[in-house]
Amino acid sequence: MGEVQTAGVGYFVRTAARVLRRPRLRRDLGAVLDEYSAGWESYRRHLEVAASVDDWLFLRGVDDVPRYCRRDGVIEHSGFNSARFYREALLAAMVRHFPAATSVAEFGSGLGRNLLHLKRVLPELSLSGFELCEAGVEIGQRSAAKFGLDVAFTQFDFSQESKGPIEPVCDVAFTMFALEQVPRGISGALSRIYQRARLGTIHIEPVTENYPWTPLGLLGRIDHWKVDYLSGFPMAALQLGAHVHHQQLASSHNPLMFPSVYVLERGQVPHVVGET
Ligand SMILES: C[S@@+](CC[C@H](N)C(=O)[O-])C[C@H]1O[C@@H](n2cnc3c(N)ncnc32)[C@H](O)[C@@H]1O
Repeated sequence: MGEVQTAGVGYFVRTAARVLRRPRLRRDLGAVLDEYSAGWESYRRHLEVAASVDDWLFLRGVDDVPRYCRRDGVIEHSGFNSARFYREALLAAMVRHFPAATSVAEFGSGLGRNLLHLKRVLPELSLSGFELCEAGVEIGQRSAAKFGLDVAFTQFDFSQESKGPIEPVCDVAFTMFALEQVPRGISGALSRIYQRARLGTIHIEPVTENYPWTPLGLLGRIDHWKVDYLSGFPMAALQLGAHVHHQQLASSHNPLMFPSVYVLERGQVPHVVGET
């Protein structure tokens, strides 16, 4: 109950009422396309006025707007830079598990900002982004050109069956809050991404199976079900025969979300390692 006491019982009651009242959504490909095509379109003007890549990676008036979040297990209302927090978690997993990687691809790359950040930190990496929505792909391409960063963006739908055999396109593939959009067919989607990576994959995703059995954890499970997010990730990961590492993050952009970092490494006996 500690996390609720810190945030205030008022916050919990308001949030619970909102979650319980909200209708249950059905998340199919059309719903994802509608949500993100419009969402990413609205960033065109931000890209136009961004004077530097730093401006673009942390947009004033967008990314710094105070909101409820969880930082180190404590709920607060602040302008927490969660994107930077997740990018650091990604980088730590990459350096730890795949130090020899020379090429990295993001699936569900959105606007491509994770990859631009990665290119600045590790310029020797060859980077590509694969994204469902044309608007995200185009803004990714424009931003890479505008800031002189060599990152490729291509339209791709990881929820569709592939024609013919799948060849690796990178050493390491990752997803960040993209598989969350796949409530059904997670085994196929994960396998299509995993097969494209020579060494393995990293996933920063809300996996409800790992949510804590606390009031907020329970509310998070209900909310996640209402918005029709990802389910079945742990079983899908095990089925790939990978060496599975799992870690729970202490901070989140949404107090009802408890994101996990999963690392799936190839070429070893399959078993779950747990906290890394
Ligand atoms: C919450 S956004 C995250 C974007 C990016 N990974 C980030 O961290 O900023 C989810 C992204 O996944 C993409 N996505 C969802 N389903 C997809 C699919 N089947 N194939 C490719 N991309 C998909 C969406 O279009 C959206 O851009």
